[in-house]
Amino acid sequence: SRPIQIVPSVLPADFSKLGEECRALEEAGVDRIQWDVMDGVFVPNLTFGPDVIAACRDHVEVPFEAHLMVEDPDLLAARYVEAGCGMLIVHAETARHLHRTLGAIRDMDASPAVALNPSTPVDAVRHVLDLVDMVLVMTVNPGFGGQDYIATMEPKVAELRRLIVEGGYDVDIEVDGGIGPGTIGGAASAGANVLVAGSALYRDPEGLGHAVSDLRARAE
Ligand code: DX5
Repeated sequence: SRPIQIVPSVLPADFSKLGEECRALEEAGVDRIQWDVMDGVFVPNLTFGPDVIAACRDHVEVPFEAHLMVEDPDLLAARYVEAGCGMLIVHAETARHLHRTLGAIRDMDASPAVALNPSTPVDAVRHVLDLVDMVLVMTVNPGFGGQDYIATMEPKVAELRRLIVEGGYDVDIEVDGGIGPGTIGGAASAGANVLVAGSALYRDPEGLGHAVSDLRARAE
C-alpha cells in the first residue's frame, strides 16, 4: 500500500499571516501544503493568485500543491509553477485537452495531477493515468471549506484504486473535503492515501500538531 500523506488546505488559515501559518503547518508535520486556487468562475469563490503563494514559498521547505479550481488552467499553470508549486492539480471538467495539459505540466518539471468533482465518473481519467502522479477525488462540491463529507464517493475511490492497480500505474489517490477524525478511516479504507484536511485541522482544541498526528494514525 502507498504511504499515507496528510495535506492541509490553507483555506481555514488566517489570511492576514499566511507565511506564519505555513510555518505552523510545517512544524505540525504535514507532508505538503495545498493551496485551494479558486477563480470565482469554475467555483463560486475567489482565493489565491500566484503572487500570494510566491510570498509564502520561502517561509517553509514543505512542498506546495496548487488545486486549480479555475475555468482555464492552461492560462495559469505556468504562473503557479513559477510561484513555487511542485504539483498542479487540474480539474478534468475544465481542461479542453486534458491529455495535452497534463503533459505540458510535466514539461514544466512540475508534477501533474487531475481532480474529479463528485458527479464526474472515474472513466474521465482512465486514459491519462499514465500521465499523472495523483488523482484527486473531491468528497465535497468545491468552493468552500467546512462542508459535509460525501460518503458515496468511497465506492468511486475504490473503483479508481482498482483501475490504478490493474493498470500497474504509480498513482496516488487524494481526497479533499470534509475529511476529519470521523471520515478519514472510510476514505483511507476505500483506497485514498493522500488526505486533505482544512477545517478539521483548525478545530482540534489540542492544536495542529495533534490534529495531524491523530489524522495520520486514523488513516494508517
Ligand atoms: C473545496 C476545498 C475544501 C478544502 C478542505 O473547495 O478545497 O475541500 O480544501 O476543506 P474542509 O477540510 O474544511 O472540508
